[in-house]
Amino acid sequence: MKLLITTCVVCLIIVLIGAIRCFADANVPALKDALAKAFLIGVAVNDDVVSGNDSQTTAIVEKQFNSITPENVMKWQFIHPEPNKYNFEPADRFVAFGEKNKMFIVGHTLIWQNQIPGWAFRDDSNNLLGRDAMLARMKDHIFTVMGRYKGRVNGWDVVNEALNDAGPLHKSKWVETVGPDFVQKAFEYAHEADPNAELYYNDFSLDKPAKREACVRLVKDLKDKGLRIDGVGIQGHWALSYPSRKDIEQFINAFAALGVKVMVTELDIDVLPSATQYMGADINVRFELQERLNPYVNGLPDEVQKKLADRYAEIFAVLLEHKDTVSRVTLWGVYDKTSWLNNWPIRGRTSYPLLFDRNYQPKPAFDAVVKTAQGSE
Ligand code: G3I
Repeated sequence: MKLLITTCVVCLIIVLIGAIRCFADANVPALKDALAKAFLIGVAVNDDVVSGNDSQTTAIVEKQFNSITPENVMKWQFIHPEPNKYNFEPADRFVAFGEKNKMFIVGHTLIWQNQIPGWAFRDDSNNLLGRDAMLARMKDHIFTVMGRYKGRVNGWDVVNEALNDAGPLHKSKWVETVGPDFVQKAFEYAHEADPNAELYYNDFSLDKPAKREACVRLVKDLKDKGLRIDGVGIQGHWALSYPSRKDIEQFINAFAALGVKVMVTELDIDVLPSATQYMGADINVRFELQERLNPYVNGLPDEVQKKLADRYAEIFAVLLEHKDTVSRVTLWGVYDKTSWLNNWPIRGRTSYPLLFDRNYQPKPAFDAVVKTAQGSE
């Protein structure tokens, strides 16, 4: 009897907690409603989200966002792992999820020097391909991937991170095999593959003057050659104090002047100490780094939580002021636990860059974005 009563009480408590949570969730406003008159609000998703394995995150994405970008599954390494072998299943699920939820679907990314297998640049004898053979391979990849989702994926990051921080193109395998016009060729093929899809150039640190100017030249060049480019995506892998409001505005104005859309494509705000000098280290192995570089293992102190909220408010305020140019803002992940920043530049840290916390709850930064959006209407 005692056992029965205890079981009933426990069940009641569980049901009550569930009901309270449902009620609380129902009262959480939706970012896509708050920002409806300004721009699309998107998020990067992984396969667990679109397949429903991570159902709490799926629910957040469906309620909050009206655009999605695949965090990894459309990259060459995953979608085209071997010559003549494509792995479309996860990308198919991603596109179907976006369609089911009537979202603006972004393809990420066709041409990049990272997350691409070594064979892609080599012939059967392991020699680097010449220009013509490499262009044929590039065209085949673009046509196969874009062709499969023709009319279903709304916009594509055609070329990702081609510029280095000082301005010129990276000395990548693309430049080595095709030459510097690989960017133009990619845009040319992409437009042929799906003439109705929007086409973007996507990169980080575009708020820095030298790289911004190089990107302006790149976009102008594409336009001068009569090629289609609809927009430039600036990856917002930013921090509490970087970049400045002025740098963000200068970036937006530079591309507004060229008549292309501006998107903040990979927004997250890092609150952890810079660790780039330890790139690749694992915090669980290098214990001496723990205290200094991984300071918030047990939770984010209130004052840092507030700084993060203020920073998100500041960024959205600038973007909202330029809503005629800014067409989309995409968060690089849904909640803190799955952010790539837990494992970059060093592995095993506890990071807090997103709008939802490790318990799937909206953070003060979320409230700050909603409030900023509502205040701007
Ligand atoms: O899929 C393998 C899995 O089989 C293996 O067991 C596991 C072991 O580490 O690795 C898995 O691959 C990981 C992959 O994400 C999928 O989860 C890679 O190690 C990991 O390096 C990779 O990281 C991705 C990173 O791009 C790679 O460059 C991040 O998730 C992704 O958020 C990040 O996204 C990029 C954008 O595409 C472009 N801009 C920069 C941004 C951040 O780096």
